[in-house]
Amino acid sequence: MGDETPLWPAEPSLEQVREALGECTRCGLSEGRTQIVFGDGNPEADLMFVGEGPGEQEDLRGIPFCGRAGELLTRMIEGGLEIQRSSVYICNIVKCRPPRNRTPLADEVSACRRFLDGQIDAVRPRTIVALGKPATSLLLGRDVAISRVRGQWHEYRGIPVMPTFHPAFILRQYTAENRRLVWEDLKAALAKSRESHP
Ligand code: URA
Repeated sequence: MGDETPLWPAEPSLEQVREALGECTRCGLSEGRTQIVFGDGNPEADLMFVGEGPGEQEDLRGIPFCGRAGELLTRMIEGGLEIQRSSVYICNIVKCRPPRNRTPLADEVSACRRFLDGQIDAVRPRTIVALGKPATSLLLGRDVAISRVRGQWHEYRGIPVMPTFHPAFILRQYTAENRRLVWEDLKAALAKSRESHP
């Protein structure tokens, strides 16, 4: 089967995308995973978060952002934005844990990309938050320095994208300034997701 063969209808459900993913062996990450970590949250969310890839806890539990970085992300969403985590949709650019949490390789990201696109087509969020460099580089279509592009609006397939620092970076560099910048980005993303459309 060629890479261009459609795997689901034009407006798929998340279930159809998940089913097409199957017990995926399209890249080498399948060899080291405990399970696929597909996504979590509201299938009709206005706000979608896209991270890098599952870590140890995520691989064990099958839920994205459920380890330390995930706890911080959940605090930012629930304590900061004052919305339920279950009201947004959360996923990653790769669905299987990279060995020792290394950055996913280009061929791994490209093998998984159509499934992220399928998730976006299924959820049809009004705004996407790209968490960290790998997710932002994928959605912007170029290799970016996150500190340069965060805080500014971009677009992916017609959907506004707000890049911001990855919560794992904030945990490592837990400064008032970094927390303030992420807070600004998340507030802007939530406001945009709530804007009424003509
Ligand atoms: N980091 C990510 O990018 N995604 C997760 O799901 C967990 C940690």
